Amino acid sequence: MDKPKGFGFPRSPEVASAPVDGEALPEPETLGEDAELDLSADEAAARVEETLTALDSELIGLASVKRRVREIASLLQVDRARHQFGLTASRPTLHMSFTGGPGTGKTTVALRMATILHALGYIRAPRVHTVTRDDLVGQFIGHTAPKTKEAIARAAGGVLFIDEAYYLFRPENERDYGQEVIEILLTEMENERGDLVVIFAGYPDRMATFFSANPGLSSRVPHHIEFDDFTHEELVQIADLMVASENFRFDEQAREVFSEYLTLRMQRPRFSNARSVRNAIERCRLRQARRLVGLHRPLGKQDLVTLTAEDVYGSSLFAENQS
Ligand SMILES: Nc1ncnc2c1ncn2[C@@H]1O[C@H](COP(=O)(O)OP(=O)(O)OP(=O)(O)O)[C@@H](O)[C@H]1O
Ligand SMILES: [Mg+2]
Repeated sequence: MDKPKGFGFPRSPEVASAPVDGEALPEPETLGEDAELDLSADEAAARVEETLTALDSELIGLASVKRRVREIASLLQVDRARHQFGLTASRPTLHMSFTGGPGTGKTTVALRMATILHALGYIRAPRVHTVTRDDLVGQFIGHTAPKTKEAIARAAGGVLFIDEAYYLFRPENERDYGQEVIEILLTEMENERGDLVVIFAGYPDRMATFFSANPGLSSRVPHHIEFDDFTHEELVQIADLMVASENFRFDEQAREVFSEYLTLRMQRPRFSNARSVRNAIERCRLRQARRLVGLHRPLGKQDLVTLTAEDVYGSSLFAENQS
């Protein structure tokens, strides 16, 4: 197949027709000067809309994150449309940073982002390869470059998600190999023909320091997306969603007690937003199981799905508060 000249985005016909979950993304026909294009009629747009709708309904809160994800999707959709009219432009740079406290949904949104980028033909697979410092930095001289290159190769065609990215930068140690990783990443990210989206993730303050100390990197990351801590009300909604998705339900009293539990838990050290909610629910399940086994009677479906106040009250936080 001849490669059309001056291709902007998608970069090549191979990328454009790469399999999408087993199906080929239709090769868009080139349109004439007077043609009009209905963005919503694009098959890729339908896929993206599906993912965005799921993002809205399955993830509580995160209004500004959802808005930014939509913006990025729009950017790619319009780029696709321009491409169909033969309008060339450089491929949009989509390296990102996700900053937010623990358990605010950074990893979860990265997976959804990969699905969207893939649906719009920007990456070849809806895949996220997650790494931390230890996956990139070698212990001895000469070990770092091959490790980093291997991680990049594994992520190629998808998203390289660098969790707690600031650990790559240790200014107190002049000879730290982390700097070598940053340089390799820079080269890779500069590469217009690159086959990779890099997402740097971590807690906000440290990420700010990391980017200001590495301006070269910062300037290659046009999309900074901030994840706020959840409000108490959002955490309760997250709990309801998690419980329902596991085929459980709180009885009325249990729900109230769980809400009280969250109020206490939010004030404690190492509170991790939605992750703390998930962990607390796991512990409720454990207590429910213990309670049910202790009943020594036949169990019905209602017994098995219901989490009671007793299952929540078992938390040591309540005991601590009483003493
Ligand atoms: N907005 C949300 N609505 C519902 N569930 C959520 C939401 N955000 C996160 N979760 C759930 O909370 C858990 C933690 O989320 P995730 O791992 O994405 O957070 P994170 O920001 O990557 O955390 P960390 O900083 O610790 O890596 C997951 O089980 C995820 O499904
Ligand atoms: Mg994470």
